[in-house]
Amino acid sequence: MDRVADVADLVTVALDELLPRADGPEVRLTEAMRYAALGPGKRLRPFFALEAANLFEIEERSVLRAACALECVHAYSLVHDDLPCMDDDDVRRGRPTLHRAYDEATAVLAGDALQTAAFDIVLHPDTHEDPAIRCELAARLSLASGARGMAGGQMIDLLGVRDDLGGVARMQRLKTGALFTYAFEIPLIIARARDVHRQALTSFAHDIGLAYQIVDDLLDVEGDEDLLGKAAGGKDAARGKTNFVTLLGVEAARHRVAHLADQARAHLDPFGDDAEILKASVDFVLKRQS
Ligand code: IPE
Ligand code: IPE
Ligand code: MG
Ligand code: MG
Ligand code: MG
Repeated sequence: MDRVADVADLVTVALDELLPRADGPEVRLTEAMRYAALGPGKRLRPFFALEAANLFEIEERSVLRAACALECVHAYSLVHDDLPCMDDDDVRRGRPTLHRAYDEATAVLAGDALQTAAFDIVLHPDTHEDPAIRCELAARLSLASGARGMAGGQMIDLLGVRDDLGGVARMQRLKTGALFTYAFEIPLIIARARDVHRQALTSFAHDIGLAYQIVDDLLDVEGDEDLLGKAAGGKDAARGKTNFVTLLGVEAARHRVAHLADQARAHLDPFGDDAEILKASVDFVLKRQS
């Protein structure tokens, strides 16, 4: 989808400006942060934030900065996810993972510093003139990233303590869903949106986030490593991970994705034709190969 690629370029330029630079020996850290954040990712979470923002009358600059903060947290989550103590992966976005290109300690620090950079960005007065809005953006990002969000979901993923669909759904909601949902919270917070719009976009976020992770799990089984830019070949199952695909099998997982996609599109009805691009993006999520 051209639109996703255009937003990816916009976000990469903005991130390049926002990420810290250094002169002394700590330049190794700032370069590692750039390696992780500016590499060829899809920038899908910022895409959703910016596209959802078009449904409201709000300034793009505010949304773009918060979306860059979100992308910093996402990049940090991938750096730590790839470490030997977690998924132990060597390839990410078609290049060596950060701890392979640098070393493990630098990868830990780059992840840490990307996370704090996210809060620097979102809390800076340039993000929004109203400090209450900036605080709410930061508070929601913190919730989505921490023990009741992404990090909590990663913990459950590593423990492997889920043998039923409910448990897997909860893990996915935290691990992937929380940051996806934050993408939509950005415009909702900045626009001080009405409940009907909050409900619609939050429901869309839940379904699209879950569909996205199930597609990721399907790609782990069926994907082409060269297109994906990361390991596949059933690595999740080989590591003893449980997910929708290992529990349901490929066919039923595909059905679930299709059902979530229909449900996601229906949630956008309150926005009428204005949500056409968001609706079209559902197919992008379903059909992605990378
Ligand atoms: C990968 O996220 C991790 C998951 C939550 C599935 P993306 O598929 O968005 O990765 P990039 O940012 O495009 O590399
Ligand atoms: C990771 O899920 C989700 C994160 C919070 C980083 P995966 O472990 O399935 O992501 P990939 O497949 O390595 O991108
Ligand atoms: Mg993982
Ligand atoms: Mg992984
Ligand atoms: Mg995966």
